[in-house]
Amino acid sequence: MSLSTFPEGFLWGAATASYQIEGAANEDGRGSSVWDTFSHTPGKVAHGETGDVACDHYHRYAEDVALMSEIGLPNYRFSISWTRLFPQGQGARNQKGFDFYNRLIDELLRQGIEPCVTLFHWDYPQALEDLGGWTNPDARKWFGDYAEACFEAFGDRCKRWITLNEPWCHAYLGNATGVHAPGNKDLATCWKVGHGLLLGHGEAVRRFRALGQSGEIGLTTNHQWGIPLTDSEIDRKATDQYNAFSAGWFLDPVYHGDYPEYLKRTFDMPSFTAEESALVQEKTDFMGLNFYEGSFIQWSDTAFVNASTYKDPTMETTQMGWLSLPETLKQTLVLSQKVYTPPKIYITENGAAYDDVLENGRVHDQKRMSFLRDYIRAAREAISLGVNLRGYFVWSLLDNFEWAEGYRPTFGIVHVDYATQARTPKDSAWMMGEVARANGLDYAGATKV
Ligand code: BGC
Repeated sequence: MSLSTFPEGFLWGAATASYQIEGAANEDGRGSSVWDTFSHTPGKVAHGETGDVACDHYHRYAEDVALMSEIGLPNYRFSISWTRLFPQGQGARNQKGFDFYNRLIDELLRQGIEPCVTLFHWDYPQALEDLGGWTNPDARKWFGDYAEACFEAFGDRCKRWITLNEPWCHAYLGNATGVHAPGNKDLATCWKVGHGLLLGHGEAVRRFRALGQSGEIGLTTNHQWGIPLTDSEIDRKATDQYNAFSAGWFLDPVYHGDYPEYLKRTFDMPSFTAEESALVQEKTDFMGLNFYEGSFIQWSDTAFVNASTYKDPTMETTQMGWLSLPETLKQTLVLSQKVYTPPKIYITENGAAYDDVLENGRVHDQKRMSFLRDYIRAAREAISLGVNLRGYFVWSLLDNFEWAEGYRPTFGIVHVDYATQARTPKDSAWMMGEVARANGLDYAGATKV
């Protein structure tokens, strides 16, 4: 196997999330989520944009699946909108919601594309939020019931499941800084929400096993092992604290049954009962990693967890202002494997937003292409160092609703013209198809680029 070829059976695919692409927010009985409420609250999302229409994927899913097939991506990670299935989050089912995901899954399989399903990608039912959301003692059961309904309805055809997407973001950005839905600004709530998410994750894994589902299930986090800016003791200490907050908050409980000592010592963390600790440690089949931004970490007396990220002003950033540091992906993969020993790891998201230009029906997104090549190379190096990495999903299939940033940042490998909903694959899409066909970077050259 050459250094740019990946192990046999490696999964190549693209990822999306329900609220970011589906639209049809008020159609066919879908209930409101916290993101509907948040995006309709003035001042919360750039330019007052919402996911009401987004990429209209709810109506155009067949066209989108056909595009994936044309590009040549054999795996597709998408999330289910909880409130399409259960408008109130619990209780009455909405059959039209189940019908939509059945149509989507059947179409994927018809085109030879394997589904990978995320149960929760931040669009939490507003009706449950009104009851205290993830901090309610019943939250675990609500999520378990919803997960079980999904396993029963779709588990005959979907074999790869992700319980939660990036609980760190939902808990911290949604409840401490308030820049995401539901927009709370209270640290104590943030830790409680994190706790509720962890219990929900464990409950979903337990239900999956109890139903005797075939296939695999895991959690996706956006953790990162930062690199100390200097070798000084203080920067290394900042980095340790940063890592405990980034990786340890969710992964220590899932793999070791409790929060990191640093977090317990410093913050008012909820504690796990013995039963809860066993629940969150329900064995998962893979670790999902979403990776975007590499960081150099330095000590800061004022910053949260005493760590601030250093941005070298001479280095180019992406549209999000993020630094591209592929070596941090390699380091994060290597340390994730070493510290938590997951049976395997999937990169469930990686990608970049750039200012794309659509000209004569083409988008020559050279920067995205080189970003993706650099990260795929770093991922391959991690495999050489002993990491059992088994899949890579690019974020995102389509340009879409980028949460509080609205529609400006474009992460897609497919360009979307929101006025007409026309889709145009960018050069990076054809490149990803070649990567998938060659199972690595050893492709002869991009056919359509
Ligand atoms: C999320 C996506 C988001 C992407 C880019 C991840 O945090 O899972 O929903 O669009 O990063 O910011």
